[in-house]
Amino acid sequence: MGQLVSIHSYRGGTGKSNLVASLAFLAARRGKRVAVLDSDLQAPGVHVLFGFNPNGMPNTFSDFVAGKCDLSEAAYRVDADGAPNGSGNLFLIPSRLTLDAIMPLLADGYDAGRVNDQLSTLINKLQLDLLLLDSHPGFNEETLLTAAICDTLVIVLRPDQQDYHGTAVLVEMAARLHVPNIRFLVNKVMSGLEPEDVGAKVEQAYGKPVIGVLPFRAEMATLGSKGVFASKFPRDPLTAAIDQVVTALLEQEPTDRPPPKGAA
Ligand SMILES: Nc1ncnc2c1ncn2[C@@H]1O[C@H](COP(=O)(O)OP(=O)(O)O)[C@@H](O)[C@H]1O
Ligand SMILES: [Mg+2]
Repeated sequence: MGQLVSIHSYRGGTGKSNLVASLAFLAARRGKRVAVLDSDLQAPGVHVLFGFNPNGMPNTFSDFVAGKCDLSEAAYRVDADGAPNGSGNLFLIPSRLTLDAIMPLLADGYDAGRVNDQLSTLINKLQLDLLLLDSHPGFNEETLLTAAICDTLVIVLRPDQQDYHGTAVLVEMAARLHVPNIRFLVNKVMSGLEPEDVGAKVEQAYGKPVIGVLPFRAEMATLGSKGVFASKFPRDPLTAAIDQVVTALLEQEPTDRPPPKGAA
């Protein structure tokens, strides 16, 4: 059974979408079957990194939550160069970036139970080793209900007091939801700060493991989401650090989830 990992944060702008795209690319490059699900329905964006236009597609995650298709029908093969039919082992389940798709969600939310029910089915159907959820930041109810059934919840934070304070409350919430594995991923660490010190402080503050401490890189900021960083900058130290996170994620033991709906 593949790993289900939610990448979350208290605030936006921590680097979630960019890190999800690079994590997926690097895991796929190792031959793993990987999918990225853009569960940030209110502010979709990870499709941009893959040069993918969800608005022209018949089915997306937005259509799934609206009850118009199954989750696996909204999965598309992609690759890091934005070619329409990727190398075969990297999939994207995008969300629709239109006002018509976003407005009803703002008012009514969606049925997180239905999402949770179909995630295992998706992992089985696509035979995934890794399913990464790029989530909506903060305390969105549906997002947290899905985080609760993940094998691992990765909370991305910057060395920033607002992130630190908000993350503390997020961790409290995750504990109440009995999220099995909480891991921290510190991003945008400026040169001059020792990564080991930053990681040790975060572990000490929250009592949970740090899965990576990633440097702020001008190359990433300048790229401005115009592609998958790890693909564009294969030899950059940030890519090497993200690759270590892939190793750590793949080493985790998946937790027992209920069998997928429709399974014998
Ligand atoms: N390690 C990093 N160094 C420099 N810039 C980064 C880094 N990680 C992310 N960024 C930049 O931060 C911005 C926000 O990233 P994004 O992935 O959209 O965050 P989120 O999905 O958490 O809102 C993007 O412009 C991205 O290029
Ligand atoms: Mg994002």
